Amino acid sequence: MKHAEQVTLIRRTLDLIQRRTTDMDAEPEQRPVDIYTSPTRLERERGQLFQRYPIVLTSAALLQRPGDYVTHDGLGAPILLCVDKEGQIRGFLNVCRHRGARLLDGPTGVARSSFTCPFHGWTYGLDGKLLHVPHAYGFAEGHCERTALTPFPVRVKFGMVWTDPGPDLDAFLGPLAQELAGWNLSRLQPAYQLTFSPNANWKLLMEVAFEVYHFRKTHAQTIAPWLHDNIALHDDFYPHQRMIVPRNRINACLDRDPASWDLLSVANVVYLIFPNTVLMLREGPTILQTVFPSSLDRTLWRTWASAARVPQTEREVRHTRADRESFETTLDEDFRRVTSIQSGLRSGANQVVTFGRFELGPIRFHRALDDFLAR
Ligand code: FES
Ligand SMILES: [Fe+2]
Repeated sequence: MKHAEQVTLIRRTLDLIQRRTTDMDAEPEQRPVDIYTSPTRLERERGQLFQRYPIVLTSAALLQRPGDYVTHDGLGAPILLCVDKEGQIRGFLNVCRHRGARLLDGPTGVARSSFTCPFHGWTYGLDGKLLHVPHAYGFAEGHCERTALTPFPVRVKFGMVWTDPGPDLDAFLGPLAQELAGWNLSRLQPAYQLTFSPNANWKLLMEVAFEVYHFRKTHAQTIAPWLHDNIALHDDFYPHQRMIVPRNRINACLDRDPASWDLLSVANVVYLIFPNTVLMLREGPTILQTVFPSSLDRTLWRTWASAARVPQTEREVRHTRADRESFETTLDEDFRRVTSIQSGLRSGANQVVTFGRFELGPIRFHRALDDFLAR
């Protein structure tokens, strides 16, 4: 991000802090509880959002050398992403063409130069072509030559691998495309990954990731002490969003020449890439998080942390481990809340969920969801 833009954002944030307020909407909003508990709603979300628009599958930092692979089960079909011999990232269904066994297990890994099905040993090249069939005489002549893994179209952009269901990615991102391009995300190297399956509707996870109102209470022992209470700058990149979360130390900017200001050293910059991705830039590893509904009340949450270089020195390794541990603890605090909310929603106690004027992230998220589901 250009320095002038960073200065503008810091100034706007300082202004909120000085006026002891935060970005807010005109009115609080409510949503019916059944958007988190209705199977038909989930079906519509899967069909009208997850299948229809570009969705981030993973960080491209994990897919750099031939043979690197990532498996993904968030979209219903098992997906395999891998790097071919030419260094190209490809997507396939992670399904053997013989009798349908899953080809690769484990979330990530490195294959030598081929994938072998664990059932009977059919072997596929990194380009998906079937290379070897044990006892091939049992199959029709030429079958091997004609068979390849089923392609799953993907695009690689801004250091992320996206599904490619048709709509143009840049058009879908709008002004956010330029913003993401300004962070050089494709240069990042993998730092760590986390996977969780919290028992809560996927939207509850998106909400908790995009409001700071809960920090003071929920994260009292972890991140709250170094952040301003309930202050965040919200910018709409409809249907996407940007949130700037200031650290206490941003106040020191007031005594310094703006020429020396650096946004990421005084605030976290968080993007909601609609509908299910949260990208956070900050001091320390960049955090990419994706949220996929496994069922109505269970979510696949994956965190991909990446940094300017792979941790090498003992100090870097230590720092990365500490970052991972504190991130895990903070996420656990969120997951406890959303799990309790999911059972609370089912109890019948509330007919609606209420968002305060400053819970702007969830308010805008739900408006965009309503729009996209009505299309
Ligand atoms: S199902 Fe894969 S080799 Fe038979
Ligand atoms: Fe949180």
